[in-house]
Amino acid sequence: MTSNSASDHSLISTSLATPALRSDNWLNVLYLARNWAEASSKTDSIKKDLSAALTKLEEIDLFFAYPGTALLARLKQWLEEDDAKAFLRLAQRISTTIVSQKYHRDVSAWNLEELEDEPVNRLPQALTHIKNKPYFEVLSVVPHAQSRWQHIQEEARGVRRPEDEFIYQTVIVGNAPDALTAILINPDISAVVLYEGFAAHAANENPLLDVFNTVIDLSASDDEILTLRLAQAIKKIRPELDIYLLSDRNIEALAGKPECHFINRIFYQMEEPLELHLSILEGIRNRYKTPFFDNLKRYAQRPIATFHALPIARGKSVFTSNWISDMGEFYGPNLFLAESSATTGGLDSLLEPTGNIKEAQALAAKAFGADHSFFVTNGTSTSNKMVLQALLAPGDIVILDRNCHKSHHYGCVLAGAQPYYVEAFPLAQYSMYGAVPLRTIKTALLKLKAQGELDRVKMVDLTNCTFDGHVYDTRRVMEECLAIKPDLVFLWDEAWFGFAHWSPLLRQRTAMGAAAVLTESLKQPAALKAWEDQQKKLGNAPDDKTLLNTRLVPDPRAVRLRVYQTNSVHKSMSALRQGSIVLVRDVDFEHVEAQFHEAVFTHASTSPNLQIIASLDVARRQMQLEGYGLVSNAVQISLEIRKQVNSHPVISRYFKVLDSSEMIPSAYRPSGITCYNSHDISWDKAAEAIKEDEFMLDPTRMTLFCGHAGFDGTTFKNILADKFNIQLNKTSRNSVLLQSNINNTRSDIALLIRVLVEIALDLDNKITENANDYKKAFRLKVRELVEDLPELPDFSRFDDRYREKPKADTLHGDIRRAFYDAYKESECEYIPLDDPEIDKRLKSGPVLVSANFVIPYPPGFPIMVPGQVITQGIVDFMRKLDVKEIHGFNKNLGLKLLKRTAGKDKKK
Ligand SMILES: Cc1ncc(COP(=O)(O)O)c(C=O)c1O
Repeated sequence: MTSNSASDHSLISTSLATPALRSDNWLNVLYLARNWAEASSKTDSIKKDLSAALTKLEEIDLFFAYPGTALLARLKQWLEEDDAKAFLRLAQRISTTIVSQKYHRDVSAWNLEELEDEPVNRLPQALTHIKNKPYFEVLSVVPHAQSRWQHIQEEARGVRRPEDEFIYQTVIVGNAPDALTAILINPDISAVVLYEGFAAHAANENPLLDVFNTVIDLSASDDEILTLRLAQAIKKIRPELDIYLLSDRNIEALAGKPECHFINRIFYQMEEPLELHLSILEGIRNRYKTPFFDNLKRYAQRPIATFHALPIARGKSVFTSNWISDMGEFYGPNLFLAESSATTGGLDSLLEPTGNIKEAQALAAKAFGADHSFFVTNGTSTSNKMVLQALLAPGDIVILDRNCHKSHHYGCVLAGAQPYYVEAFPLAQYSMYGAVPLRTIKTALLKLKAQGELDRVKMVDLTNCTFDGHVYDTRRVMEECLAIKPDLVFLWDEAWFGFAHWSPLLRQRTAMGAAAVLTESLKQPAALKAWEDQQKKLGNAPDDKTLLNTRLVPDPRAVRLRVYQTNSVHKSMSALRQGSIVLVRDVDFEHVEAQFHEAVFTHASTSPNLQIIASLDVARRQMQLEGYGLVSNAVQISLEIRKQVNSHPVISRYFKVLDSSEMIPSAYRPSGITCYNSHDISWDKAAEAIKEDEFMLDPTRMTLFCGHAGFDGTTFKNILADKFNIQLNKTSRNSVLLQSNINNTRSDIALLIRVLVEIALDLDNKITENANDYKKAFRLKVRELVEDLPELPDFSRFDDRYREKPKADTLHGDIRRAFYDAYKESECEYIPLDDPEIDKRLKSGPVLVSANFVIPYPPGFPIMVPGQVITQGIVDFMRKLDVKEIHGFNKNLGLKLLKRTAGKDKKK
């Protein structure tokens, strides 16, 4: 890891792509080994290349238990002894094992000698029982000379017992920076053992660590401080890891220090290897356990007779049926055995959990860095409505991103809260919106303050990340808003972003990640000092312009940090469809808990799906044990897709995955970072971007621009699905959204690239052949898709009858009253979109007021909400819109409008 960061091509990739990089390194060694074995001459030069390739891979492999020093030494021995055949055999074995991760499951992979034909029972005693146990690695950070490392590893293996549920191997490093490198690049590491006295510095600098410079501090005057700082840094990067400390000091005193709270256990150095081993296993067991799923499995095994609803439970009505037994065959018996409408007999109630669901929720809260979590089995659509209903009362104002998912708008209708719509920056050239600039949010708050209505503002509700991948600086948004109103509640809709908790780069921009950092930073004396200094500078009555131009800091004594996150676990983790979770970090939660439960009762089904609950439990287990590696892989896959598409000579003629520079205007990117795959981004630059840029792009969400290929998003999506079996996420007028997730493999990239090449070559051919003047039609279509784009209409305003102060320079309105006014058919009218009456009324009134939500897909946000005044811009947009799916709009009837008389009776 000595590469010069700025010029290192694999810059961002290195940390994220280690599995791929390792495989590539080993495949390169294998390739050279084959050449060597087959060569009759020039073997010296091949051997030189091999030696260099081995040195290169060792830089990374040093941080992995497999193949380990013994197998690597053996490989080098064959090189030195000039035995090309033995080298090839061993290189083949190791590389296949690494690529297939066979060493996770098969003990024979670890043997020095080839044992293909040997039965497992002839393996060394300590290894015979490890087949099929979940595998992980333990990082030991030691002060010992390197010559002792193998001995330490053997000692760890020596305490294994046949009854152990999990199996691990040890990776050893000798200093703090290497320890961080190891946990960054080796996703198998699940626990860390710190032996006090390890070195503070590494022989080689790792540029990768620059990215964490602002959150980690390894400077220390003595071993104890260094140990604690390293432990702290490890927790910041991978909070899920268990940490054990071996010290030869006064460990009783050490254990009492508050800084040690994130260390699982402290041992007297080398006193109790078995205790350490058992503690490591227990740490894993605590993450592995899935209280609800475990109980459900037990429940399914019991012979239970049901005199209850749900005849499908136990499967008897299915398996014995003449007509529907194929359903039983398809799903298998466990699905039916695990179905129940009971909340007794070992199961728990989602609505009033007291047992294993409660425990599962507590584990999820801890895993996601929250204080409380609530499982939801009807998707984040429901989670959002629950949070809005729980925290808002009629008349409260909520600052709401107009582009948010419709559940927020409906949530306002249900709660009677008044949305103050704030507008995201437009990306008209792609017919989509970005995210809401902080300045816009502050402006709204300041306007409400000026109107004397700040007290009514209860919540700021934003989508992070947006559908198209715009990620907020969550910490900054919350800090600056809290500086204006210190008890604001934040609802971050992270439907798409739940996985981000397992990325140290993205976590700091999640709701819970930022809330954790804010909680800590507000406790520091520096926070009060910063606020006092800023107050002095701002003076008594700073004007709005000054406040907008200042990075505001909140008064830590006044702040009530209240953060909610909703998360479609099913969108980015291994939960079944509709599995969602609400995460809470609210210092005042006890005061709203009762109403929160009311909201749960309002929205949750009384027959929640047990399989969804179980999958939420299991998804949490997976993320805590392998989420880091899976998310790194998903990010790496997206970086690779970006690179392949944008640099491919044929594909890039027609397609492009849009970069940060295209998706985020430069005003919101002070770091100047334009693209993730750029060769000239150094790690510290990447760190700066993550820390300072107002918005960054979630790399896993890739907007593939297809306008230059002459395809609108929907057509292209259908072609990929129908012809090539590739399913995509959403579309815009001239783009489709690809999403990489924890499910993707490198083969998926290969498939996508092959398909894009095929489509691009087909376009090439059609253009060359130019049958029926294809070229001209193609050019016209491209122009229509790339240049001739309708302006995106902003939210106009609520009609005066839905505003308490029609003259005020504020935007909130009573959406609920408008919504229910439309229930009276006699108060509504329809005018077809192309009727000249529309133009007449736009010109000379009376104003056109929408009776309902109108949501075209794409773009998928409401062009109109109930009570909104319809403007020329909205009509123009609707008239140009060529999508088939427009919720709330019936083309034959036209726009549904509230008549002038509607809503005059305010008592409704
Ligand atoms: C931002 C956002 N929030 C919430 C939802 C709804 O989530 P779910 O599908 O889990 O109900 C979606 C769905 O696409 C979404 O995009």
